[in-house]
Amino acid sequence: MKICIFGAGYVGLVAAACFAESGNNVIAVDVDEARVEGLKQGIVPIYEPGLKEMILRNQGEGRLSFTTDYAAAVQASLVNFIAVGTPPGEDGSADLKYVLGVAREIGRAMNGYKIIVDKSTVPVGTADRVRHAIREELDLRNADLEFDVVSNPEFLKEGAAIDDFMKPDRVVIGTDNVRTAEFMKELYEPFMRKNNRMIVMDIRSAEMSKYAANAMLATRISFMNQIAGLCECMGADVAAVREGIGSDSRIGYDFLFPGPGYGGSCFPKDVKALIRTGKECDYDFTLLKAVEEVNERQKQVLADKLIRALGSADENKPLEGRTIACWGLAFKPRTDDMREAPAITIIQSLLAAGARVRAHDPEAIDEARKIFGDAIDYSNNQYDILGDADALAIITDWNEYRNPDFDRIREALATPLIVDGRNLYKPSRMASAGFRYIPLGRNS
Ligand code: NAD
Ligand code: UGA
Repeated sequence: MKICIFGAGYVGLVAAACFAESGNNVIAVDVDEARVEGLKQGIVPIYEPGLKEMILRNQGEGRLSFTTDYAAAVQASLVNFIAVGTPPGEDGSADLKYVLGVAREIGRAMNGYKIIVDKSTVPVGTADRVRHAIREELDLRNADLEFDVVSNPEFLKEGAAIDDFMKPDRVVIGTDNVRTAEFMKELYEPFMRKNNRMIVMDIRSAEMSKYAANAMLATRISFMNQIAGLCECMGADVAAVREGIGSDSRIGYDFLFPGPGYGGSCFPKDVKALIRTGKECDYDFTLLKAVEEVNERQKQVLADKLIRALGSADENKPLEGRTIACWGLAFKPRTDDMREAPAITIIQSLLAAGARVRAHDPEAIDEARKIFGDAIDYSNNQYDILGDADALAIITDWNEYRNPDFDRIREALATPLIVDGRNLYKPSRMASAGFRYIPLGRNS
């Protein structure tokens, strides 16, 4: 099949590579000329395990190409995926200017029947707006061409994006006609080996399913972060509690890890957008407002623990003269993505409290430099930042940090203090290794 994908970002590039891998002819279109030029030369602008290899292979075999030429891409393809960003506007609603911009370009360029697929995360009702924008452009050209709009939200996770796309838990298709449902089934058939969960529904429900999924996951995380807080007050262990509740098949174990707050380009913005959708129809989504508030507070928890452990009586600069070494900057492991990363809030709080900060991350240092500049020190070696630091703070759960050389850490630190925002180690092991260990929701 001939497919064109608008937006060569995380979702667009992964979808383009995976559709090409399954034998389709794919053209990926982006407005960012430098990005497209780079991709043509095999420079992949994001770090995602396995993506670069898949792009290069399919490019080499002639199934995947990159362009800024909308018209040529639209005309060469039957299916047009929209995978551009939907960032939060000032009022929290999803800004649809990129999505509707692409819709208009498609309307201006199309030369026959097309299927337009919304893969971006968009509020309920967006497919109608996409349809309307295309129709307006066709009317301007006096062109009476047929097209269908489909909603096909994407559920991939960064860091596991290729696997999630190639072996999805489910594929949701929102459509109002049988013809496109059959067509989409055919397109996704090669990815249905793990199970056969192709779920076809009406367009509005598909659009809502995407937000509901992210909001549910964010809710679990905020819930667990509060349970962790309560465990600390009551002397219970959140890791045991997770086992205790996750073993109930109605609850399950996933997404019940407490942490420094959820980050990334999606949960924060999608929770905001769903609250905003409620507001637009006079529906007060109180639960999600609380989820968001808990998350904002959670981002302060690590800095607060460090201040309690090391702080002086100086209320304004309690960490003056202290150095904190941070492991992890990206919002989660296996990505260089710093968007809404809890590390931003944590490090800003530490700097505001007067601390010097040194940081390590296996992939995100370049991205972090764009945010912190020279305000903190960076190293590509996780041990180099420890020398004479007053504490090690663990912010991201990279595998590199799971089983480190504890002797080396203890010898390097000025005081053997570890504040762990990801509960990577057993408290009993840390005590016997000679550390003061402060995890989340567990006895230290
Ligand atoms: P991104 O910011 O990484 O990429 C968006 C790309 O679109 C950029 O390269 C940008 O230059 C390009 N673009 C903007 N306007 C364009 C236009 N008019 N024509 C062509 N290209 C244009 O975004 P992303 O993370 O891939 O997210 C895209 C959408 O998918 C969002 O709605 C997001 O919520 C959703 N989503 C993201 C993920 C994820 O893990 N990142 C997962 C599921 C869904
Ligand atoms: C999330 C969803 O998991 C994807 O299904 C969805 O497609 C995507 O958003 C999207 O819409 O863009 P992603 O943001 O890549 O994917 O990352 P997650 O693995 O979901 O993690 C999000 C945040 O939650 C991270 O900051 C992570 O550290 C945190 N988290 C996750 C926890 O604090 N505890 C957990 O148990 C799980």
